[in-house]
Amino acid sequence: MKARVHPLRRPLRGERVRVPGDKSISHRALLFSALAEGESRIAGLAPGGDVRSTARCLAQLGVPLLRGDGTPWSAAAPEGLGPPSRPAGSAPLPEPDPDMGPDDAIVHGVGMRGLRAPSADLDCGNSGTTLRLLCGVLAGAGVPATLVGDASLSRRPMERVAAPLRELGARVRTGASGRPPVTVEPDAAIHAGAIASEVASAQVKSAVLLAGLFAEGETTFTEPARSRDHTERLLRQMGVKVTTRGTTVAVRGRARLSPVALEVPGDLSSAAFLLAAALIAPEGSSIALRHVGLNPTRAGFLDALTQLGARIQLDLKREAQPLPGGEPAGDLSASTQGLRGAELDGDLVLRAIDEVPIMAVLGAVARGTTVIRGAAELRVKESDRLAQMARGLRAMGAQVEELPDGLRITGAGGGRPLHGAEIDSAHDHRIALAFTVAALAADSPTLISGAEWADVSFPGFFDLLRSLGAEVELVA
Ligand code: S3P
Repeated sequence: MKARVHPLRRPLRGERVRVPGDKSISHRALLFSALAEGESRIAGLAPGGDVRSTARCLAQLGVPLLRGDGTPWSAAAPEGLGPPSRPAGSAPLPEPDPDMGPDDAIVHGVGMRGLRAPSADLDCGNSGTTLRLLCGVLAGAGVPATLVGDASLSRRPMERVAAPLRELGARVRTGASGRPPVTVEPDAAIHAGAIASEVASAQVKSAVLLAGLFAEGETTFTEPARSRDHTERLLRQMGVKVTTRGTTVAVRGRARLSPVALEVPGDLSSAAFLLAAALIAPEGSSIALRHVGLNPTRAGFLDALTQLGARIQLDLKREAQPLPGGEPAGDLSASTQGLRGAELDGDLVLRAIDEVPIMAVLGAVARGTTVIRGAAELRVKESDRLAQMARGLRAMGAQVEELPDGLRITGAGGGRPLHGAEIDSAHDHRIALAFTVAALAADSPTLISGAEWADVSFPGFFDLLRSLGAEVELVA
């Protein structure tokens, strides 16, 4: 599918807009609930393809789970995939709840020892979080399985999780050059350990901590800088002892997880595209977003906006922290503003790692030079995001230098600094979304191919933009 995105001719306006549920929290909510003893209820799950992949894999592992509309996750087959079969002898599905909506889930947790070996490969689709976190759980639980993914996921590095899991006694094999498929083999004895990682990664950290939950004693994970802490927060909420010292996190094993009732806040990574669109849209634009997750280990984008000279209104909701360890959330709004170039690096970039593509777009419309460093991890995301952003922004007329770990962008500032161009999403949702926003500030239409990849994290994005006043046509 292609999206033809026209330059914005009138202000963009939206009030009380809801963005999709946070993807990182949604994966964890499903996965940890599956390991809990009893029934969890999760409202506001991320509706995109990635979280569906986690739910499908859990169904294949015999976890009884229902969508909020009462249908089992195992019943409907999303595009191109056959329905996953629940292994024989799986516990019965929970009772549907008429008060729950389509983005909610009811999970009947099977406990730490209740997962069953799947009868087919676990297809993680486009989702690195699904593959890496599940790998930690399966290695810990000693459930043999092979995890596979689509073309993009099949190019991504998996030794970063396989190697530490082997250090804890698991038997995990990766494919050629350390990529998927990843196979967790049976009959391994998992033990606690102290893991030091060369990369700061919440996915690696989570895989290690999850495996550690199954081992006797304390497992620690140390990373060079502190990655997002959704795993620590949710495990604590579910009764696990988690301690943090600097960049080291420890969990005590042979844990038991209590079920939860959760409301997932909106995804700041999705909100970022709408805030950016409002900032660069014609004078008079404004957008107000409701109930967005503001976890400080994730909120580097807001700091980046300040450095770019933008002012954002933030209304932090105290009641959004019902339990110690809950996720902070609040309302955000932005309006048209001139931006200036900025130096963005270090901890800020780690806390905004998924927002680098849209930060690059803002750099291209700001006045002056924006330098983004410390983003080498972007080369191994759903695509090489540094290369894709450099190529696409140059096609739109921006001056961009690609650095080994970032980008140097010289923005022209002013009214319509970019030109319309043909852009490919490279099977990467954040590339499709970032260039859609860039196209709003161009002087002629932009054609984005592979626009359907936006659905991985933000289904309905193009319709939402249209409802706010943008002109977007979807063509086959
Ligand atoms: C995620 C962690 C980050 C992030 C990804 C989601 C998570 O990846 O880029 O989109 O949910 O844990 P890394 O852990 O590889 O840095």
